[in-house]
Amino acid sequence: MSENSLLDVQIVPATAGDYDGVMSISGGIYNGADYLPCRYHEWLRDPQRRMFVAKSEGKVVGFDSYLLVDGGVTAVVQGLRVAPWMRGRGIAGVIQQFCFDALHYEHPEVSKVRLTRGEDPPAAMMSKYRLMHSKAIISVVIPNDQLEATIKLLKQRVESEDGTCPVHSMSPEEVLSWFENSTSDELFPKGILVQDWLPLSTHRSNLQLLQQRGVLWCYSNTSKPHTHKSLHASQKPTSLSLPHNSTPTSPFIPGGFLSLSTPPISVPLGDGMHRYDIDLFGTDPVAAKSHILHQVTEALRVLPTGGSVICFLSAEETLRAELTRFCQGIAPFFVVREQLVLEMDI
Ligand SMILES: CC(C)(COP(=O)(O)OP(=O)(O)OC[C@H]1O[C@@H](n2cnc3c(N)ncnc32)[C@H](O)[C@@H]1OP(=O)(O)O)[C@@H](O)C(=O)NCCC(=O)NCCS
Repeated sequence: MSENSLLDVQIVPATAGDYDGVMSISGGIYNGADYLPCRYHEWLRDPQRRMFVAKSEGKVVGFDSYLLVDGGVTAVVQGLRVAPWMRGRGIAGVIQQFCFDALHYEHPEVSKVRLTRGEDPPAAMMSKYRLMHSKAIISVVIPNDQLEATIKLLKQRVESEDGTCPVHSMSPEEVLSWFENSTSDELFPKGILVQDWLPLSTHRSNLQLLQQRGVLWCYSNTSKPHTHKSLHASQKPTSLSLPHNSTPTSPFIPGGFLSLSTPPISVPLGDGMHRYDIDLFGTDPVAAKSHILHQVTEALRVLPTGGSVICFLSAEETLRAELTRFCQGIAPFFVVREQLVLEMDI
């Protein structure tokens, strides 16, 4: 592409009418597990988000967006993509710069840009951003006809290995109490919580955002010895039981474990394929496995009939080997190995 043709690219706010154009440049992204087709219209309705398309000769050739988070002082940049036939010509740089200029103009109070990426981002990018944290990604695909067998397999592994760890679903009030009172650095390195590749601080305003997304919050107290008795659905506590040595204002004690998920979303791969991201916080392998079993079981309860699931697990790097073993026998679905959180001051 010549300099002139790069100048021919216009960047404008994205509309509902650009949906097909954005999809036409998105083929094969994340090996068919792209979240944007399902999220595009929901994102457009979000007053905290701005979306842009790059157009050449009237056709969409690029997309990017930002979302205001952390009480309005940080912007998370999400969804960047350039048409395959236009890549390697600097368009990603142009659309990102446009996004930053719009951000600066509309929200001069924003001082930080944050994003998540897979491993090995371009060197040019790493010279601008600082690495905040990196987690292991383990991804597997569970076809519809193997859903039950897979749950059975995971359950056997949880119960037969090191014992189970009771997993409690948290009510919105309990989550709120934790947001207000906890010192969360142990679970959230550098105070960053990533849910479904969206990197947020533990600022209270982000809670509303997570609630709107329908996040399922699950907690375990890993300071108690793990039990070999499985927790049946009928015994499942309906609220978080606080550890005996903690007060209601500090429900998280050292060694606690948390997991987050949102209901599975349909992805372009076809054949009823859905994407399900489970974010794990903490380092206890027994708790991690119990949480995966719990979260996958919950996902299958809401999965449309005939649906299959691609599960993306994000966990601390120290859990990679153990969780890879835990998932052995389930078909891997490789997209990326790592989830990096990057930040830049603007
Ligand atoms: C990643 C992608 C957007 C790069 O587009 P491109 O136009 O070919 O990018 P170029 O190689 O021309 O790089 C130009 C600029 O974009 C930046 N860039 C390249 N890849 C990037 C990435 N993954 N994230 C952020 N910036 C990126 C470069 O650092 C460079 O910045 P500069 O001009 O300010 O120095 C494109 O390959 C794509 O659409 N891939 C599929 C979707 C995807 O992986 N998106 C990224 C994760 S959301």
